[in-house]
Amino acid sequence: MIDHATIERILDAAEITDVISEFVTLRKRGVNMLGLCPFHNEKTPSFTVSPAKGIFKCFGCGKGGNSVNFIMEHESLSYPEALKWLAKKYNIEVKEEEETEEQKQLKDERESMMIVSGFAQKYFTRFLWDENEGRTIGLSYLRERGIRDEIIKKFELGFCPNGKDKFTQDAQKEEYKMEFLEKTGLTIKRDDWVRDRFEDRVMFPIHNIAGRVIAFGGRTLKDDKKIAKYLNSPESEIYHKSRVLYGIFQAKREITKEDKCYLVEGYTDVLSFHQAGIENVVASSGTALTPDQIRLIKRFSNNITIIYDGDEAGIKASLRGIDLVLEEGVNVKVLLLPDGEDPDSFARSMSSSQLTEYINQNETDFIQFKTQLLLKNAENDPVGKARLIGDIVRSISVVPDAITRSVYIKECSRLMDVQEDILYTEVRKLIQKQTQDIRKKAFREQTKPKVQEVQPAKPVTNTCETEEREILRILIKYFHEEVFEAEDEHGRRINLSVGGYVLNELENDSLVSDNQLINEFINLFREQEENPDFKPESFFVNHSNMQISQLASDLVAEKYIESKRWKKGGAFVEAENEILDLLVPKIVQEYKLRKVKNMLRDLEQKIQEAAKSDDMEQIMDIQNQYINLKKVESHLSAQLGNRTII
Ligand code: CTP
Ligand code: MN
Repeated sequence: MIDHATIERILDAAEITDVISEFVTLRKRGVNMLGLCPFHNEKTPSFTVSPAKGIFKCFGCGKGGNSVNFIMEHESLSYPEALKWLAKKYNIEVKEEEETEEQKQLKDERESMMIVSGFAQKYFTRFLWDENEGRTIGLSYLRERGIRDEIIKKFELGFCPNGKDKFTQDAQKEEYKMEFLEKTGLTIKRDDWVRDRFEDRVMFPIHNIAGRVIAFGGRTLKDDKKIAKYLNSPESEIYHKSRVLYGIFQAKREITKEDKCYLVEGYTDVLSFHQAGIENVVASSGTALTPDQIRLIKRFSNNITIIYDGDEAGIKASLRGIDLVLEEGVNVKVLLLPDGEDPDSFARSMSSSQLTEYINQNETDFIQFKTQLLLKNAENDPVGKARLIGDIVRSISVVPDAITRSVYIKECSRLMDVQEDILYTEVRKLIQKQTQDIRKKAFREQTKPKVQEVQPAKPVTNTCETEEREILRILIKYFHEEVFEAEDEHGRRINLSVGGYVLNELENDSLVSDNQLINEFINLFREQEENPDFKPESFFVNHSNMQISQLASDLVAEKYIESKRWKKGGAFVEAENEILDLLVPKIVQEYKLRKVKNMLRDLEQKIQEAAKSDDMEQIMDIQNQYINLKKVESHLSAQLGNRTII
C-alpha cells in the first residue's frame, strides 16, 4: 500500500497536461486543451483537457478522469501501478505504508513465490534453448507443430528436464527455498521423496496482468492415454485459477486498441492466433469461464467473441459462457468452428487475412447463435419453438442495459417471428422477478449489521439516474454556497448551504438510490459536511476509489455541457450560479417526483398481480398507498409548475 502523503505528492506533481502531452499532441483552445483522443479513432479532436480542473474528457467516446485514470487507461495499469508509473516520471520516492506483521508476512510470501516462479520460467526457457535435451525434445516438438521461434520467445515457453527432481535440486543450489518451491507447486514433497511436478514437459508460463509469472501449464509429449496431457500449477496464494486468463498480459494492449477480445479454450489456441497476427486473444484454459475472468476482460473492452470448438463440449461451453458474459453487461458474439477444428488448427490452416475475414463473416450475436443451433430441431415443432424463445428471452433479461435489451428484442422478434410486445412483457416479467429477488436480498443485507465494503453497483432498473447525477453535480460544484436561510433550534435565522439543504432534503424523505455508488457519494458528502476545508471537486476527482474518481470527473466535465434546460436558442438564459436558490430546490423536487412516479409504476404492477390472487385486503392496502402517492405526485408537480424559471 502506498501511503497517503505519497499519493498526494504524486497527484500534486502529475500535472494533467504534462502527463497527457507525453502521449497526445494538445493545442490550446480557450481555457482548455484539445487533441485527438487516444482511446478511439477520430479525425476531428474531441479530447479535452482542463488544466484548471486537472481532468480530461473525450466527448467522442466518453472516457474521462484525472491524470491517474489516464495512465491506467492508456497503459493498461491498475491504480497502484499507475501511481508508481507517475512517481517514476516525477522522481518521487514511493514509500509503502507500514503493514501489519501479518500483511507483511503474506506479502513477503507472495513475493517470494513470484520470485521462485520467475526463476523457474527463466530456468525452463534456458533449458529449452540451450540444453541438448531441451532442444531435441522440447524445441523440436514446438517447431514441428509450426510454432515460430518469435512466438516461443514471446510467450516464454520452456522445458522442464527429465529426471525426477533435477529442477528442484538446481533451484536449491541457487538458494531458492523448498518452502516456496512447494507452495508454488513446482515441487511435490512427501515424507520420503521429492519430485518435480512438471518433469519432462513443455512449459507454458502463466502471467498475471502485470506480466509476472504466477503459474505454469506443462504439456507432456508422450502419447500415453494414462498420462494427463496438461498438468497445471495448483491454486496458491498467487494463483487463483478463476481470476486468471492465459495470455491477458500479451493481449491487453491490443484488446484496448481493437476494443474487442477473442476468448478461446487453450494455450495453443492463443499461440496460433498471435502467430496469425491476431493478438487480442485470451484463453480460459480448459476450465469453465467465471465472472471474475469476464471482469478482467472488461477492464479493457466491452466486446467478447467466444471462439470454441464445434463439438458437443464446445457448444455446451459457449452456451454457458453467453449468459455469464451478458450478465456482466458485456456484448457477446459467438463463433463455432467446423466440427473437428480447434482455434489452433483452424488458424494454422489459413492465412491471417483469411482468418480475420472468416471470423468477421461468421461470428454471430447470441440470438442468431441460439436460433441456428436450436431451430434445426424446432422449426416445425411449436413446443420446441416456444422453448427456444423462452431460452432467448431468459438470456435477454440478464442484460443490464435497457437499450441493448430492446435491440435484442427487436432481433429476436424478427428472427422468431413473434411480436415485440409479447417479448417485452416476458422480459419485463423476468426482470421484475430478478429485481424482487435482489430487493429481498438487499433487505436481508440491510437488516444485517452494516458492512463497510461497498458492492460494485449492480445495474438494476435505476431510472432516476439522470436526476441523481444532476444532484451530485450540483453538490460537487456548489456544496458550500450559502444561498438558503433556515431556522436553528432556537428559532434564529441562519444561512444554509446548498450541501446542507440537499442533504437535509434527502434525509427527511429517506431518499436512497438503487445505485450503491451514488449512495457512497452521498455518504462521503455527509461525512465531510462539517469539514471547512472540504473541497468537493478535488476530493472526489482525486478519490482513491477509482469508481468514485471516474464518476466525479464525468460530473465535473458535465459543466462543459451544462444542464440543457437552462439553454434557450443556444444561449444560457442565466448563469446557474446566480439562480441557485431556485435551481437547487427544483432539482431536488424533480428527483422526488421521479421517485414517486417510479413507485407508482411499481404499485400499478402490484395491483395487477394482487388482482389475480383475489386477496381483497391486500388490494385495498395497495390502492390506499397508491392514492396517497398520487396526492404527493400532484403536490410535487404543482410546486414544480410554480417554479418554472424559463
Ligand atoms: N487442459 C488442461 N488439462 C488437461 C487437458 C486440457 O488443463 N488434461 C486445458 C489446457 O489449458 C488446454 C485446454 O484445456 O490448453 C484445451 O484442451 P485441449 O483442446 O485438449 O488442448 P490443446 O490446447 O488443443 O492442446 P494441444 O493442441 O497441444 O493438444
Ligand atoms: Mn489442439
